[in-house]
This record gives sequence, structure tokens and C-alpha cells, in this order.
Amino acid sequence: MVLGKLNIKLAIQKEGRLSERTIRFLTDAGFEFDSYKQRLFSTCRGFPMEILFLRDDDIPGFVSSGAVDMGIVGSNVLREGNAGADTLLTLNYGFCRLMVAVPKESPVRSVEELAEKTVATTYPVATRDYFKSNGISVSIIPIAGSAEISPTLGIADAVADLVSTGSTMALNDLRPIATVYESSAVLIGNPASVRAKRVLADQLLTRLKGVMAAETYKYVIMNVPRSALPGVTAAVPGLKSPTVSPLAEPGWVSVSAVVTESVFWDTVRRLKEAGATGILVLPIEKMIV
Ligand code: PRP
Ligand code: ZN
Repeated sequence: MVLGKLNIKLAIQKEGRLSERTIRFLTDAGFEFDSYKQRLFSTCRGFPMEILFLRDDDIPGFVSSGAVDMGIVGSNVLREGNAGADTLLTLNYGFCRLMVAVPKESPVRSVEELAEKTVATTYPVATRDYFKSNGISVSIIPIAGSAEISPTLGIADAVADLVSTGSTMALNDLRPIATVYESSAVLIGNPASVRAKRVLADQLLTRLKGVMAAETYKYVIMNVPRSALPGVTAAVPGLKSPTVSPLAEPGWVSVSAVVTESVFWDTVRRLKEAGATGILVLPIEKMIV
């Protein structure tokens, strides 16, 4: 099978922290494709795009060389070097931290106590920078995967690895002691390919942004006595003119508005204080801005 030359080639993580969430994100954006474990690529139905399932660490290199046009990775892998890839969009999932950790029973409480010791990591560039900029001399042991096992094997005193839920560290009897950086998922692109496939790339970005905006907002419908309308309107931030429709009950109206998730509970409290009742909250599937 030859991949379509004019199609967008988008690489995502085959197996790991971001895989499932990335597939859901793309599905929510209306891209339909198969994702079998053994299959490394899939075509999208109804959109000229191929999804490639690759090791996350390989994705920035493939994007930089133009082997694929775009990729979704954690910003963590970009920090190890990404000469030719542009960050096109910061996504609102895949939050994690690169953390220095020691065995649970270790007496070490701070990174300063790791001076002259060994740290195993799959993120040698960032880890080396971190200890250097903190003036702590350690010896970095770069490894390709499963850094968590290093102290148990006796090949390092500490590790620097990603912590998302924290379960991997806990299961391997490790205790995080410091944060090197924070990371989230990002969409990256090869600048020349994105330019050459501008129209498709724009369509893809619009769809992805639509899903992100929808996740950020809720649709709220409530009943309001007409007399309380000015107070209710004032309680919804950024809302110039809500949709107001009369109810069968005289003197009452129905008001609907879009509310930002981050200030959601605060807004609901203020709406109730202003006299709103029967507040219904609905998820927004997509929002095209
Ligand atoms: C990272 C890391 C751990 C896991 C931590 O893997 O290596 O395996 O996430 O997550 P947790 O705190 O929720 O347990 P990732 O999928 O980013 O990529 P990798 O397998 O290439 O390291
Ligand atoms: Zn990886």
C-alpha cells in the first residue's frame, strides 16, 4: 500500500500515555479510522489523511525530516531535540511532569543530596540541563526505556521520568523529589509540508480547535423571572447578549448562554444569587469559532 502523496500524514503514539486520548481527540474531531494494535497506519474515511502509529520518541524526527507531515506528541519528547518541527497547537490533555525520583526507602530528600550520584533517564538532554543549571554534579545514564527499574537493578541511584497519574512510580517503589518541567500534548508539523498542504492543514486545525473549544465551554439554560434578567446577564462573564425566550408562565423567561468551564461553578453561584432557577448544563459537542 502506497500512502497518498497529497494526503496529510499524521503520526500519533502507538502505545503509551497519549495513545487512547489522542485517538478519542481525533474521533471527536470527526476523523474516522481503524486503530488495530498490530497495524501501523490507517486511512481516514471522508478526509484525505493517513494516521501513522509510531513510537513517540521517533515522531519529532520523522516530522523534521518530512517523512510525515504532522504529529501529536508530548512536549516532553520535543525537549530532547526537534530541529525541524514547528509546534502548531498546544492541546489540553496529556499533562505530566518530568520528575526526579529515588527509591522509597532512600534517605535522599532533595536533589542536592544526589551530588556525585547517578541518574538514569530516557530524557538525558533535559535532565542534564536541569542538574547543570542547579549546580549539582551528577552522572546521567541515558537509557531507551523503563528507567523506573534502574535503581532496583543497581545501575543508578535515582531516575528522571514522566509522572502523569503517578501510578508507574508508585508501582515501582519510587518517590518523586523534584520537578524538571511540565508537559502536555502538542500538535507539531513540518513547516514545508504544512505550507504545501495549507488547505488541508487549515481544515484539520479548525476541526481540532473546534473540539478543544467545545471542551472548554458548557451550554447553560435556565429559568429567570423577567425582573431578574439584568442581574443574570451581568453574572455571565463575557456574555453580551444571551438568548432570551418567553416561558408559558407569565413574567418568566428562559435564558441560554455559553459558559467557560474554568469559571463554571463561580458563574452558577452568581446566577443562582441573581434569581436563576432550574439551571440545566449541557456539554457542547463542537464549537466553530
Ligand atoms: C510515560 C512514562 C511512564 C508513564 C507514567 O510513558 O514512561 O511509563 O508515562 O504515567 P503514570 O504516572 O500515569 O503512570 P509514555 O507513554 O509517555 O512514553 P514512553 O513509554 O515512551 O516512556
Ligand atoms: Zn517515549
